[in-house]
Amino acid sequence: MKKTVLLAGGAGYIASHTAIELIAAGYDVVSADCYYNSKPEVFNRIEKITGVKVKNYDVDVCDMEALDKVFAENRIDAVVHFAGYKAVGESVEKPMMYYQNNLDSTFSLIKVMKKYGCDNMVFSSSATVYGMQKVVPFVETMQTGPCTNPYGWTKLMNEQILMDFANADENLSVVLLRYFNPVGAHKSGLIGEDPAGIPNNLMPFISQVAVGKREHLNVFGNDYDTHDGTGVRDYIHVVDLAKAHVKAIDYALEHKGSEVFNIGTGVGYSVLDMVKAFEKANDIKVPYVIAPRRPGDIDTCYADSTKAADILGWKAEKTLEDMCRDTWNWQKNNPNGYDA
Ligand code: UFG
Repeated sequence: MKKTVLLAGGAGYIASHTAIELIAAGYDVVSADCYYNSKPEVFNRIEKITGVKVKNYDVDVCDMEALDKVFAENRIDAVVHFAGYKAVGESVEKPMMYYQNNLDSTFSLIKVMKKYGCDNMVFSSSATVYGMQKVVPFVETMQTGPCTNPYGWTKLMNEQILMDFANADENLSVVLLRYFNPVGAHKSGLIGEDPAGIPNNLMPFISQVAVGKREHLNVFGNDYDTHDGTGVRDYIHVVDLAKAHVKAIDYALEHKGSEVFNIGTGVGYSVLDMVKAFEKANDIKVPYVIAPRRPGDIDTCYADSTKAADILGWKAEKTLEDMCRDTWNWQKNNPNGYDA
């Protein structure tokens, strides 16, 4: 019988790509999302791509009563917990909002899952849990924290909470995925990243400059200890990342306890490498100026993803060119994101 996966925060950037890969792998998908930072239009796009209309609930997963209804109406076998606020700067200004929402969502999900006998969760964590580590590549066995902002702490706290829950409950299975820097979009150009307001992250900013919405990119610092002085990160195509979730769900359904995996390519590119790759792949100019460093940024961050390869059988397959081309294909076809 087909297994059903609930995507908590299912309308978001990574979740929507994950829905497509789960459907392709033979899972039924249900979404619960309150559209704080996403749009229900994404489900029409997913239907165009897959032919499947994802059953979606306008539900804040912190609201246990509303969440209960989702579980009462569907036999949920596993949950991917994407539901959370994610803006680093905003988390510094509004720590209560971040701690309350990002932790409450986990508590209500786990409680309702327990009530309905659902024991499998994959959690959206982040390389941010490694804090200001200076040794690359980052390996799962390395020390985590201290984090540099409340958003990062909520990821690390959620990891700890979920590991403790799995430790105390022999039925529970928890897979923690530490994402590096997700970029790109589905190759159809129908779904992609749709940040509200001014983008915080590099790739959406580059593509908004390319489409003429912003004048130039600010490169935050060119005096880092890297090959060209600009920050180096491990950019991973969102479709590769989505496929990692399918492997993680397969794994969670067959194992008990908790396990953590880095999900990155293992290769680092600088800000200027990304600008040049974007210009080359799409034959378009991306004007930039060198600006001061952004507080909290580190020189270099990239993953050792050997564990994901060995245990999940997952490896990133897409190239930097794929990332740049697919980002642009989405941006130029949807200059205003999901708004018509
Ligand atoms: N950058 C710029 N200009 C911009 C935006 C970013 O130069 O307008 C630079 C940054 O300084 C950094 C690189 O581009 O060197 C990547 O920055 P992002 O904001 O795209 O990504 P981060 O690596 O800072 O953050 C990402 C996620 C976080 C997560 C973190 C974990 O966005 O959610 O990785 O490592 F916590």
